[in-house]
Amino acid sequence: MDDIRNIVILTGAGISAESGIETFRAEDGLWEKHRIEDVATPDAFRRDPVLVQKFYDMRRAAVQTKEPNPAHHSLARLEHEWTGASGRSLLLVTQNVDDLHERAGVTNVVHMHGELLSAWCSACDMRARWSEHLSGDPPCPECGSKALRPDIVWFGEMPYRMDEIYDALSQSDLFVSIGTSGAVYPAAGFVQEARAQGARTLELNLEPSQGSHLFDETRLGPASELVPQWVDEVLRG
Ligand code: OAD
Ligand code: ZN
Repeated sequence: MDDIRNIVILTGAGISAESGIETFRAEDGLWEKHRIEDVATPDAFRRDPVLVQKFYDMRRAAVQTKEPNPAHHSLARLEHEWTGASGRSLLLVTQNVDDLHERAGVTNVVHMHGELLSAWCSACDMRARWSEHLSGDPPCPECGSKALRPDIVWFGEMPYRMDEIYDALSQSDLFVSIGTSGAVYPAAGFVQEARAQGARTLELNLEPSQGSHLFDETRLGPASELVPQWVDEVLRG
């Protein structure tokens, strides 16, 4: 590990599964119960805003009853100890819209697909922390219009902070993907980006992801076990 200075970690729904938050593509996952084109696209929101708001209201309420698990906690410890030494960096990029990384104590999380606990006003562009329902059309605290939507990146929209992510990938020595199926781009392409820059690549997942063959190493098992073990290894050096 001596030669590793810059780490980029990508997390997906699998890291929060053991906290009781359902994943998307499991047999009983969210996308089996709801169609993407009904609840997770700009068109869906135009067609049936109440249905879409209720889908996110339900998920926003649910995450507030869940707690971070050992995988989240160990990444907080890694951030703290790794970035405490000079000349080292760590960027945690998550596709998750829950706040379990933050609640475990990670300070710098890039939520590339947005956040359930944030509302975005499409009239004045304000963003605010939001823990209540949006389905009753509450007014925007800034401009008063009833134009609040979940601060979530829907299919067909551009993920957030991509420049920052590609910049970190271009300087990474180690890229680690945790709990993601590799089904959704651009996140699914990060492993190739990191490899092209000469980074080592490691996948920690319950089962091989779609892009599993692209990783130098794949470890299979539950995140609550694999992630703390890997963090111990990295910090031992
Ligand atoms: P998926 O539901 O597609 O994949 C979850 C992955 O986690 C699978 O590969 C599982 O094998 C793995 N997994 C499940 N339980 C696990 C555990 N206990 N430990 C480790 N791994 C486990 O979720 P994502 O890959 O996050 O986007 O999905 C990517 C994006 O698709 C989401 O951000 C969301 C969704 O549509 C948007 O809504 C924009
Ligand atoms: Zn507003």
